[in-house]
Amino acid sequence: MIALSSQRRRLQRKVDAVPFWWHSIDLGNGVVTPGHKSPDTLRREFDALALPDLRGRSVLDIGGWDGFFAFEAERRGAARVAVLDHYMWSMDSPGQQAYWRRCKAEGVAPQPYHETEFWHPDTLPGKRGFDLAREALGSAVEPIVADFMSCDLAGLGRWDIVLYLGVLYHMEEPLSALRRLEAVTGELAVVETEAIVVPNLEHEALWRFFPGAELNGDISNWWAPNLAALLGALRAAGFASAHPLAAPPAALLAAPGGPHHYRLTAQATTS
Ligand SMILES: C[S@@+](CC[C@H](N)C(=O)[O-])C[C@H]1O[C@@H](n2cnc3c(N)ncnc32)[C@H](O)[C@@H]1O
Repeated sequence: MIALSSQRRRLQRKVDAVPFWWHSIDLGNGVVTPGHKSPDTLRREFDALALPDLRGRSVLDIGGWDGFFAFEAERRGAARVAVLDHYMWSMDSPGQQAYWRRCKAEGVAPQPYHETEFWHPDTLPGKRGFDLAREALGSAVEPIVADFMSCDLAGLGRWDIVLYLGVLYHMEEPLSALRRLEAVTGELAVVETEAIVVPNLEHEALWRFFPGAELNGDISNWWAPNLAALLGALRAAGFASAHPLAAPPAALLAAPGGPHHYRLTAQATTS
């Protein structure tokens, strides 16, 4: 009992020493990381992906950050799981967030974060959470430190299931990104993204462009598609089929004006 609680205190101290957590991850012994995304949110988000049985499958989580989705895939029996990331792993997140808040308060657009003093690809300060969670869980999830837009796809290989969650709208070239996604997908890719509804124009494939920091004051947001644009882009990228997991909210379709924003999840298959 005493050994367990001292183990727990040691783990809690390590969790507290990580300056920023994006994901709440249950590390066991009653220790849950204090993520920006709560355990309830993450459970809902995972369920909303409507993934098939993961037992024995390979899963690649592109832009997986602290790794919640990858660790969960491993817990559900996936045979091989990896997180590929580099951007937030290279970031001093507390510094970058304070900078973002300052810019917002002053009404100026931030510099691209990878051109600021908060970018440290040499020491990867933003990967500490993933590393600690992996160690505490005794996990075999593989970290792949790489920019998905420039890494060698042949070396990465194909994975049965590929998660691309919260990443697409950060891409300057979303169609190229989806082509690369198709190239590493064996069976199924799941794309979750910021999306738009423009009432009465849902039949058109529309992308909203954010030349500066218009979306949430965040300079790293570039494009948000409507449903027709995302499905069309997935097919143009080479996927055999693509479908949304939920229709755009009826309230937004009926709301005056627009574009209105929501989060859209779609699945795309290679055959
Ligand atoms: C909004 S976060 C989403 C994190 C996680 N997938 C989730 O849904 O909770 C976007 C993630 O994409 C990563 N990312 C952005 N551009 C990337 C790129 N070119 N290659 C790999 N990862 C990238 C960021 O580092 C960050 O971890």
